[in-house]
Amino acid sequence: MISRLIDRLSRSWKLSNFLTRIPQKRTIRTTDGTRFWDSDYYRIGQGAYEGYQEQQMIRYLDEFYWKCFFYLSANRINGDYVEFGSGSNIRSFRLAHKYKRLEKLPLSLFAFDSFEGLPEPTGIDGHEAWQKGGMAVSLEEFQAVLAHQGAGPGDFQAVAGFYEETLRDHSPADYGIEKAAFVMIDCDLYASASLALEFVASILDDGSIIALDDWFCFSGDPERGEQLAFREFLVNHPELSVSEFLQFGWHGKSFLVHRPKNKAEKESNLPR
Ligand SMILES: C[S@@+](CC[C@H](N)C(=O)[O-])C[C@H]1O[C@@H](n2cnc3c(N)ncnc32)[C@H](O)[C@@H]1O
Repeated sequence: MISRLIDRLSRSWKLSNFLTRIPQKRTIRTTDGTRFWDSDYYRIGQGAYEGYQEQQMIRYLDEFYWKCFFYLSANRINGDYVEFGSGSNIRSFRLAHKYKRLEKLPLSLFAFDSFEGLPEPTGIDGHEAWQKGGMAVSLEEFQAVLAHQGAGPGDFQAVAGFYEETLRDHSPADYGIEKAAFVMIDCDLYASASLALEFVASILDDGSIIALDDWFCFSGDPERGEQLAFREFLVNHPELSVSEFLQFGWHGKSFLVHRPKNKAEKESNLPR
């Protein structure tokens, strides 16, 4: 009876959000007298779970973005924020805008997306989680969501279109990008990630961050998705090496790029 009442109450997102924030002093005592700490975290209802899950997703992504932008600022890494896959929940791009503002970094923000959702997954990209048109957010919706947090059209550049048209046979210079400080690859598919990585190869500098949001999708299979695309990319670009940086959520992994030539040039310019 009491547990039914608690479940009912926790269906109200606001109430459960409030309850999970107040310190819980209750304990559960079993028949042999053992005490266990109790918490509403264990009893959150199905209705409240959706909002709770979104909060959790933002919490770790926010922490990741905070660390990345702090890292860029502390290490004086120059270049822009270039994102591939910005639709769906528009979490990552909003966080990039937030920390660019808070860390006062002079970088430009670029969002590359079809704004029509995923292309048709073919070959090794076939998976029931990815469907043509999945996660679509229109350009107008994207702009409206960013405007809501104070980002006007002049604060970022959104390049709309499928990568076969916007990236293949194009260079970053076509969009006014000279250098990438932070590349976010969140486009799920091997085919999309391969195009995105090849596109940024020439603008990665010593210390740039590459984040691959879907590293552990496709069950973490090294022969599929972003893992395969990244491995092939490194083989095709022996001028670059990477070291592991941060893992985020259950799904994402990031790396720091090393480009020995640029590193040597930078070090030779340091005051002695
Ligand atoms: C998982 S969603 C991005 C989520 C977003 N970063 C967020 O934080 O909510 C994947 C996005 O990749 C885009 N995408 C995937 N492959 C693409 C391609 N080949 N061309 C253009 N957009 C693509 C889809 O349109 C979709 O918006």
